[in-house]
Amino acid sequence: MNALRIRGGRRLNGEWSIHSAKNAVLPVLAASILTNDRVYLNDCPDLSDIRYMGEILQTLGCDVQTQNGMMTVDPQGLCRWEMPDELSKKIRSSIFMLGPIIARFRRATVTFPGGCEIGLRPIDLHLSGLRQLGVSILEEGGMIHCDGSRMRAGTVHFDYPSVGATENVMMAAVGLRGTTLVHNAAREPEIVDLQNFLCAMGARVSGAGTHTIAIEGVKRLHGVAYTPMPDRIVAGTLLAAAAATGGNVRLRNVPVQDLYAVFAKLREMGCSIDEDADAVTLHAPERLWAFHQLQTQPHPGFPTDMQVQMLALAVRAQGTSVVVENVFENRFTHAGDLNRMGADVMVNGRTAIVKGVDRLYGARVAARDLRGGAALAIAGLQAEGETLVEHVELIDRGYDKLEQMLGALGADICRICTDT
Ligand code: EPZ
Repeated sequence: MNALRIRGGRRLNGEWSIHSAKNAVLPVLAASILTNDRVYLNDCPDLSDIRYMGEILQTLGCDVQTQNGMMTVDPQGLCRWEMPDELSKKIRSSIFMLGPIIARFRRATVTFPGGCEIGLRPIDLHLSGLRQLGVSILEEGGMIHCDGSRMRAGTVHFDYPSVGATENVMMAAVGLRGTTLVHNAAREPEIVDLQNFLCAMGARVSGAGTHTIAIEGVKRLHGVAYTPMPDRIVAGTLLAAAAATGGNVRLRNVPVQDLYAVFAKLREMGCSIDEDADAVTLHAPERLWAFHQLQTQPHPGFPTDMQVQMLALAVRAQGTSVVVENVFENRFTHAGDLNRMGADVMVNGRTAIVKGVDRLYGARVAARDLRGGAALAIAGLQAEGETLVEHVELIDRGYDKLEQMLGALGADICRICTDT
C-alpha cells in the first residue's frame, strides 16, 4: 500500500506547467474509434483512468501505444461492440464508449458502470439521450444491450445538463444523416474540447459551451493529431495548495477562462491572482479569510471537482464557511479525517459548516476518492507534524504524481510504501 508522507509548514513557491486534462482525454480517447485512421494525442498525463481507457480500446481491437505522453490510437482493428465487463467496472468513464460504439456498429453491449464514493452515478440520462435518437435499449442483468439500427438524427433534451450524457450523444450523432440538436446540454469546457476534437476529425459540431449543441452528420471522419485542453482541476488544486501555505506560485498552460469561479473564491479568501492569456500567478496571505458560502453548480458555476480542495482551505481560514454540494450526493467523505487533524467540519446532507481553526495536526488519513485525497494532502501541507495520506492509488486516478508537482513547488512530500 502506498501513501503520501507530508511534513507541513512549508510555503509553496515556484512554477509548474499543467498537463492535459483527464476529463478531456477520456472522452477524446473514446471518440478516437469514430475514424479508421490513426489518432495522436499529445501531452497525456500518466493516470490510471487513462491507462484503463486505453486497455478498453485494445480489448475492442484497437492498437494503443503510449510514449512520453503521446498516445497513439490505431482503430483499424476495431471489431468488438461488447465492452469488457471487468474493465468497464473499473472506471466510470467507460460509459463514454457507448456513443462511439453505437456510431460505428449501430449496436453496443455495455455493463452498468460502478458507482463510487461520491455517489450512485446513474446513467439514465445517457440512455434517455440515446433513446431520443431512436436507439432501442434493453437493460438486463446489469448489462445494457443497445440496438441502433433505427437511430436517426433528431432532437435530444436532457432533464439535467450531464457532462457524460452530453458527450455520449455528441459522439453517437456525428454520422447520423441530418442535424441533431441537443438541448440543456452540459457547458463544461471539456465539452468544448470534445467538439474541437471532433471538428478536427472532420465532424460538423457547433454550440458546445452553450446549452444547445448542433451535430450535422458527416459520412466519414479522418485521423488527427490533437492536444487536449489543460487540466483546470489540477491547476485549481495547485492554486489551493499554494493558498493553504501562504505561498506564491505561477502556473503555466492554464485554461484561465475556465477558472473564474475558482479565482473568485480564492480572491474572496484574500489571495491576489494575476491572470495572463494562459498562465496565472497567485500570492496568498499568511492567513486566509473564510469564503462564507460556496455552492457547486454545473459550469460556469463553481466546479464540484474543486469543492473538496476549497473546503480543505476553509478549515484553517478565519471565520466560518458554508459549503453546499449540489452536484453529487456524497462529496464530503473526507470530513472525518479532516476533523481528526483538528478541523471543525460539521456535515448535514449536502451542506458542510466549516469553522476555521488556528492549527491542524498531522495524522494518518486515507483517500476515499481522488479529489478528497488531494484535499487531505492540502490539509497535510498546513498541519504541524507529519501526515500520511493512504490509498494514494485513488489520487493517481486524477493526478500524475501529485507529490512531484507539490514537491517541485517546495512541499516536503514523498511517496512511501506503508506496511498495511
Ligand atoms: C464528469 O462526470 C466528470 N468525469 C466528473 O469528474 C465531474 O465531477 C462531473 O462530470 C461534473 O462536472 C469525467 O468527465 C470523466 P455528470 P459525469 O453526468 O459525466 C447525475 C473527477 O473527479 N447523473 O455531469 O459522470 C450524477 O449522478 C470526476 O474528475 C444522473 O443522475 O458527471 C451527478 O449527480 C468526478 N444521471 C450529476 O448528474 C445520469 O445519467 C452530474 O453528473 C448522469 C448523471
